[in-house]
Amino acid sequence: MALAPTVQLRSGAHLPLLGLGTWPLDDDEAAATVGRAIETGYRLIDTAENYRNEKGVGEGIRRSGIAREELFVTTKFNREHHGRDGVRRAFETSARLLGLEYIDLLLVHWPNPDQGHHVEAVQGIADLLEQGLVRAVGTSNYKPAHLQQVLDAGVVPDVNQIQLDPQRPRIEDRAFHDEHGIVTESWSPLGQGGGLLQESAVVAIAETHGLTPAQVVLRWHVQQGLVAIPKSSDPNRLAQNLDVFGFELSAEEIASLYTLDTGQAEIVDSDEFGH
Ligand code: A2P
Repeated sequence: MALAPTVQLRSGAHLPLLGLGTWPLDDDEAAATVGRAIETGYRLIDTAENYRNEKGVGEGIRRSGIAREELFVTTKFNREHHGRDGVRRAFETSARLLGLEYIDLLLVHWPNPDQGHHVEAVQGIADLLEQGLVRAVGTSNYKPAHLQQVLDAGVVPDVNQIQLDPQRPRIEDRAFHDEHGIVTESWSPLGQGGGLLQESAVVAIAETHGLTPAQVVLRWHVQQGLVAIPKSSDPNRLAQNLDVFGFELSAEEIASLYTLDTGQAEIVDSDEFGH
């Protein structure tokens, strides 16, 4: 069983390049899917308070029987916890639901800049890192301007998880992350399984290599150092989505996938939306 390679974070933790997204699975579905994914070779599992499935994710982990240190478990908290004490309480609730003593990567789910606590929220996670309760500090949906405020406060997140796929390649965000040693993680890396997988640029490459369109898109992410967390509860898809480390796309193929960025694809605006 092949595992995904890892990328080392600033904190020293090793984050697998490919993992399982768990939105919108409920507790029962999450338990079954997480258990199956771990058997298939997944080691990175991504959940969130807002998905309301942390208990199921924890159940799946226990069912798998895997040693805790083999796994990289990620969760996120909502806007009401954006304060140093609030983050500590959010951690405690998530850890209890997951049945874990530490969380590998805890992320602020959305910056919610209207509240003005998006810097404090990250500082709260940095406190947990110092206490050994998390292994890495994460943000999600932070724009470069939000991240700059975090940097100005003296904290550098290990990871920023953003909506990213070939139709939304987020070049400027990635350049900012790279400049500061922040690893980019792509949510909905398959574009939520919509039209992206039917695009002729994707299908043509898939046919050339004897791959599925999803494998081409996931390879596009990981070959560029982007951590991808596709969601699937289908056993065949789970296996094929992890099986993207035995081939390479050419520079021309990677470039041809960038032509899918027409600038028209909708990107959720984290200055407007958040929970
Ligand atoms: P399903 O769960 O039925 O497999 P994203 O992670 O970008 O949000 O995409 C998730 C969507 O993509 C889900 O609807 C999922 O459906 C679908 N999906 C996941 N893996 C594949 C695959 N290998 N081929 C086609 N669709 C996939």
